[in-house]
Amino acid sequence: MSLLLQVENIHSFYGQIHALKGVSLTVNEGEIVTLIGSNGAGKSTTLRTISGMIHPKKGKVIFQGEDISKKDPHEIVQSGMVHVPEGRGIFPTLTVKENLEMGAFTVKDSKLVEERMEYGFSFFPRLKERIDQFGGTLSGGEQQMLAIARGLMLNPRLLMLDEPSMGLAPILVELIFDIIKELNQQGTTILLVEQNALMALSIAHRGYVIQTGEITVTDSAANLRGNKEVQKAYLGIS
Ligand SMILES: Nc1ncnc2c1ncn2[C@@H]1O[C@H](COP(=O)(O)OP(=O)(O)O)[C@@H](O)[C@H]1O
Ligand SMILES: [Mg+2]
Repeated sequence: MSLLLQVENIHSFYGQIHALKGVSLTVNEGEIVTLIGSNGAGKSTTLRTISGMIHPKKGKVIFQGEDISKKDPHEIVQSGMVHVPEGRGIFPTLTVKENLEMGAFTVKDSKLVEERMEYGFSFFPRLKERIDQFGGTLSGGEQQMLAIARGLMLNPRLLMLDEPSMGLAPILVELIFDIIKELNQQGTTILLVEQNALMALSIAHRGYVIQTGEITVTDSAANLRGNKEVQKAYLGIS
């Protein structure tokens, strides 16, 4: 199994707020790795630091063997990493098709754009039915599907998803998680951030628990599910 992403002891700040206090994690090619933790623990900040939206004050982010800690998001995206942010970030006044085309902004070959759009539709047939509908008029679940499908337009080696289940009805949460698993089985490596620890650990291979900017536990997903502390704090099992 080869190492795809290596986060080494990163420290990130918002002004004076020390949000990440030495976070380290790895993602191997082919894995689903999940980062779980409560609200405000530093999950989104970790993804933002990896994708270059924030630069760490200390520590390194190494992707495909290259130190990317000082690179900007547009350069990082081109090297094969896609970050689907919390809150989805789709364009409400553009149609589904236009949103997907925007996702492929660096792809010049229009045939390839069409192929990738069809690949996304194979996971989300609902989006194909709504191809000319404005993003802002889609339901929450459909917007999440669009955000993921847009991420797929760049054919990422690493797909990072920030709380894809947030705000979705339970049945849609299951659907989204099934699709994440399927995407992984088709070859996409995934770093999944979730407050919904139970669902995340049900599809992940390995996981990390983050608490106030520090990784407190890491193990296989199966062991984390069986860990008493994790059960108490994150799985609602006492
Ligand atoms: N834009 C921001 N400005 C200032 N502080 C922030 C900002 N975003 C997050 N924080 C703070 O950083 C910490 C980690 O936040 P975040 O990474 O969003 O947590 P999570 O995604 O786990 O809920 C929290 O204390 C939060 O209040
Ligand atoms: Mg967050």
